[in-house]
Amino acid sequence: MSFEIVPLGQTLGAEIKGLDLTQKLDTETLAAVRAAWLEHLVLLFRGQSLNDEKLVAFSKQFGELDSVPTWDQFHSPGHAQVLVISNVIEAGKAIGVLGDGEAAWHTDMSYIERPPTASILHAHEIPDTGGDTSWINMYAVLDAVPPELRAEIEGLELNHDATHDSSATLRPGLDAVADVSRMPGARHPIIRRHPESGRPALYFGRRLNAYVVGMEIEQSEALLDRLWTYCSEDKFIFCHQWQLGDVVMWDNRCTMHRRGSFDPAQRRIMHRTEIIGEKPSAA
Ligand SMILES: [Fe+2]
Repeated sequence: MSFEIVPLGQTLGAEIKGLDLTQKLDTETLAAVRAAWLEHLVLLFRGQSLNDEKLVAFSKQFGELDSVPTWDQFHSPGHAQVLVISNVIEAGKAIGVLGDGEAAWHTDMSYIERPPTASILHAHEIPDTGGDTSWINMYAVLDAVPPELRAEIEGLELNHDATHDSSATLRPGLDAVADVSRMPGARHPIIRRHPESGRPALYFGRRLNAYVVGMEIEQSEALLDRLWTYCSEDKFIFCHQWQLGDVVMWDNRCTMHRRGSFDPAQRRIMHRTEIIGEKPSAA
């Protein structure tokens, strides 16, 4: 199988042209797609038409899939490994998560011990405008951190809040906790070594309720605020306007992403799978 790689953003993102993802990738093609993914961090495949079985089959070529955590009621019927991300209400009940508001910068499921390596998102229905997704290259963000600040964060761990999602909504069945130093979640190195590329990246989950382990809360907040200022450089960000049939696959170990809001009167339905990852290790 042959395909073309077209870079999209300045420092991340590429479109893969010429592949039909309903077909199993041969060994050589799969290795080439994986190499492109490691290089460009976010891959876009336009014009795909994958039912859940095909989305799962495509995703499994990159590793073992996670079942939907916490939100069992939002998996696609019959497919526990497919999460529905949607604002659509049917018979008075939401069919998916995240609604129509803004989703803040985050890394998927960083609040668990083994956060996913990759997330794969397929556009089933999209609004006329809005709901764009942006990714940021966290290798590049770390490279932009001045040496004295980087020295300050070497060896530190961040606690990743498990209680809220990226739309700042309390997850079902969890209680809000006021003290960020006691937040349920997982602790991971702030500077993470990417297990495949070997490169160090800043590893953030969400800003909300993040806590630098062992610090006074004020000190932790001030340090995190300083570090987050490096996440606003346009050249590190790739913004994607969705088209129907898009499949986007990204690396959660070295990127964060966010979503813009959209008109609540419009429908947006995305189906997502996630590849189970490894426990993050320090760089
Ligand atoms: Fe996400």
